[in-house]
Amino acid sequence: MKLRHLTAIAAGAATVLVASTAAIALPFSGGNTSPDSLRSVASKIGLRIGTAVTPFELDNAAYRQITGDQFSTVTPGNEMKWQVVEPTRGTYDWSAADRLVTFAQQHGQLVRGHTLMWHNQLPGWLTTGVSDGTITNAQLRDLLHKHITDEATHFKGKIWQWDVANEFFTDSNPSMINPNDFWVSHLGAGILADAFRWAHAADPHALLVYNDYNIAGEDGSNAKSNAVYAWVQQMLAQGVPVQAIGDQGHLDTQYGFPTQMAQDLQRYADLDLKVAVTEADVRTFVDAPTTQVPTDHLATFAQPYEYEQMLKACLAVTACISFTVWGFGDANSWIPGFFTGEGYACIYDVNLNPKPAYADMLQDLRLGALGATHRLA
Ligand code: XIL
Repeated sequence: MKLRHLTAIAAGAATVLVASTAAIALPFSGGNTSPDSLRSVASKIGLRIGTAVTPFELDNAAYRQITGDQFSTVTPGNEMKWQVVEPTRGTYDWSAADRLVTFAQQHGQLVRGHTLMWHNQLPGWLTTGVSDGTITNAQLRDLLHKHITDEATHFKGKIWQWDVANEFFTDSNPSMINPNDFWVSHLGAGILADAFRWAHAADPHALLVYNDYNIAGEDGSNAKSNAVYAWVQQMLAQGVPVQAIGDQGHLDTQYGFPTQMAQDLQRYADLDLKVAVTEADVRTFVDAPTTQVPTDHLATFAQPYEYEQMLKACLAVTACISFTVWGFGDANSWIPGFFTGEGYACIYDVNLNPKPAYADMLQDLRLGALGATHRLA
């Protein structure tokens, strides 16, 4: 697998060199960062490397420096979710997200907006109102319309990609739009199309993304990818402005690496969609959350390998415009809190030292810079 990818990239290098590099304008610079940072090397082929950030992390000088130096796009980990932006009905608090947007602008970074419609991290007043019947389905629809419109309007012109809808498909085989999803169960599956239309009306220049996990073959059967692929074809046939597919990329070494990620990403791309890896991390079992030493030594090889394979899948698909990790330091990762006994999921360790996954990604980007096709966002 490894060799096959390297050969493909090398073959691409030859084509690009023969075709003349002069025609390929670089659309953005790596800023003032080291020419050897992830973002600088990736910029040579127009690929953006991103990270999730929660703005309080920026209070830590070392974390802030790495965020600015290594990444050319940022995603707020939580701060654009409905629960955070409207904790009290009718009163918005954009402060944390605004802080990250300002940081991004100061560091030549683009922002991925995350997320306008999801079943998790909803405000208590909304879920309570729905369950006690004081918010009817008609009112819920109006509230969602207002939420999407107000949020996309607040950040209008500042968001590169919006994750309009997040995690709507079941993990079953066959997979389908989850009938029990909070939004679908109250408003029907058509709410997905409405959400994309509303987001587009509010911010016509943002790239609108459907975002989910295991939609590039990670489930083994490819059932979830097949379901998303069929759904997005329908959306496109109906003129719904779904413009990109985001594969989250939350992997776990215990399941092995999916064999058809590049093919699945390419299949979306062939529908004239952009694609992105939006939340990459690779978790494994560890000794303790504070130290996060893998309990199986083999995992120290499997973990960077799986990062590499995801990045190579993205590099192999010209429509893949960004590769975002879901936080970069193990000490700040969401994994130990959500997956009991697991960790070591990031590309920097608990002390913010780069891990083998970082070195391997940099190496793959260097190689990609020689041969992968230039991408245009
Ligand atoms: C996670 C955050 O990282 C955590 O801090 C929060 O407690 C829960 O959500 N898929 C997503 C992200 O789309 O929004 C999730 O982020 C991780 C899984």
